[in-house]
Amino acid sequence: MRTALVPGSFDPFHNGHLEIVERAARLFESVVVAAMRNPQKGAPLFDFAERKAMIEESTAHLGGVRVVAMTGLVVDLASEVGASAIVKGLRAVSDFENELQMAQLNERLSGIETIFVPTHSAYSFVASRLLREVARFGGDVSAFVPKPVATRLAERFPVGGASRG
Ligand code: PNS
Repeated sequence: MRTALVPGSFDPFHNGHLEIVERAARLFESVVVAAMRNPQKGAPLFDFAERKAMIEESTAHLGGVRVVAMTGLVVDLASEVGASAIVKGLRAVSDFENELQMAQLNERLSGIETIFVPTHSAYSFVASRLLREVARFGGDVSAFVPKPVATRLAERFPVGGASRG
């Protein structure tokens, strides 16, 4: 069985991520989505359990998709789950430099291949960092995230809830 590993911070999981997981699920017999810790980023908005639950709920319509949450190296997880490849979405050239470096390092570390999937143009501007910022200031991001994520974000930051200070 050919398995793809789709790793990311997913803080939060958005429609661009979902589209990549859906496409990976069409290309591979099984897909493991991994919510991971990015050591380059600060404290996450949602903890591992919340991110895992949101991704599970958002991908419940897909067969062969399993969600894990863990710290550690992507290559170690890839070998643990028997992944044939890591799948990453690319939104723009700006994503490419960092992703290329990680793909090359991961290949040298373990021999695993990374497959880049171009994000649909409808999602090329959608980024978790920006969604967190809009939501934090009371903006409505429900058009850009799956329903389970919109619900969690609205609980955390009520829409229209910006305050004067
Ligand atoms: O969604 P992100 O923040 O771009 O995801 C990046 C992630 C989590 C996939 C990356 O930070 C990562 O690979 N973290 C695990 C640690 C690791 O394997 N580092 C070596 C990368 S070459």
